[in-house]
Amino acid sequence: MHVDESLLTSVADHYKTHLAPIYAWMTGGLDAAIARGDAEIYAVLPNLSSGVTAVDLGAGFGMHAIPLARRGCSVLAVDTSSLLLEELMGRAQALAVKAVEDDLLSFRKYLDSSADVILCMGDTLTHLPDQPSVEKLFSLAAESLRPPGQFIATFRDYTSPLVGDGRFIPVRSDNDRILTCFLEYGTDYVDVHDVLNERDGSVWRQKVSSYRKLRLSPEWVSAALRAAGFSARVEPGLAGMTRVIATRA
Ligand SMILES: C[S@@+](CC[C@H](N)C(=O)[O-])C[C@H]1O[C@@H](n2cnc3c(N)ncnc32)[C@H](O)[C@@H]1O
Repeated sequence: MHVDESLLTSVADHYKTHLAPIYAWMTGGLDAAIARGDAEIYAVLPNLSSGVTAVDLGAGFGMHAIPLARRGCSVLAVDTSSLLLEELMGRAQALAVKAVEDDLLSFRKYLDSSADVILCMGDTLTHLPDQPSVEKLFSLAAESLRPPGQFIATFRDYTSPLVGDGRFIPVRSDNDRILTCFLEYGTDYVDVHDVLNERDGSVWRQKVSSYRKLRLSPEWVSAALRAAGFSARVEPGLAGMTRVIATRA
C-alpha cells in the first residue's frame, strides 16, 4: 500500500477535528436526519413498544437514539465524540436518553439490565479497528440482549473497490463548503481521505483528514453474527448501505 500510515488519524481524532463540527450539515441537517432515522426505526422495528431498553452504539447526534426515545424506549447512547453527544442531548431534553462518551466496545459498563435492542447504525461498524473487534462486539451484544432481542447494524460494503475517478466521492456542497471523499484500498481496509474546502471571506481554505475503515462483506458479517449466537438476515438499508438484522436465539 502506498499510504503513509503516520498520516492517518485515529477515528476519534478524525471526528473531533474534522467531521463532528460539520456532521449535521453533511447529513442535510439534524431534523431531516432524525426524520430519516425515525422512518428507518419504524421499518426495522414496527412493533416497538414503550418500556424497551435500547442501546445505540456510535450514536452520533442521535439520528436513531432520538426517534427510539420518542417512541418510549429508554436509550443508552454511546459515542466517542463529545460534540455529537452534546447535539444529541440538546435534542433529547427530557427524553429517557443516557449519553456516554466512551468506546462502543465498553457499552456493557453503562447498561443496568439486559437490552432488548442494540443498534450500530450509519457505517459505524466499519470504524472498528479490526475484524476481531467486530466479532467481540457481536459477542458482547449477544451477552447483553434478552432473547429474542435484536442487534441491528447498517454499514457500507467496501469489498468491491471503486477505481479511477470513481474513488473521488462528492459528499455534499453548498455556496460556502465542499466535502469530497477519496478512497484508497488496502487488503481488508480502506483509507478514507475527507477533503473539506470552506469559504473564509473571499478565499477558500482546504483541510484534509484521513482515517481507516474496515472492508466488511455482508457474508462475513452474517457468519460472524451466527457464530455469536444470532440468526441474521441481510437487506438493503438507507443510502446504499447494507442492513443486517440479527435476532438472539
Ligand atoms: C458514521 S457516524 C454514524 C452516526 C450515527 N449512528 C448515524 O447513523 O447517524 C459514526 C459514529 O460513530 C462514532 N464512533 C466511531 N468509532 C467509535 C467507537 N469505537 N466508539 C464509540 N463511537 C465511535 C463516531 O464518533 C460517529 O459519531
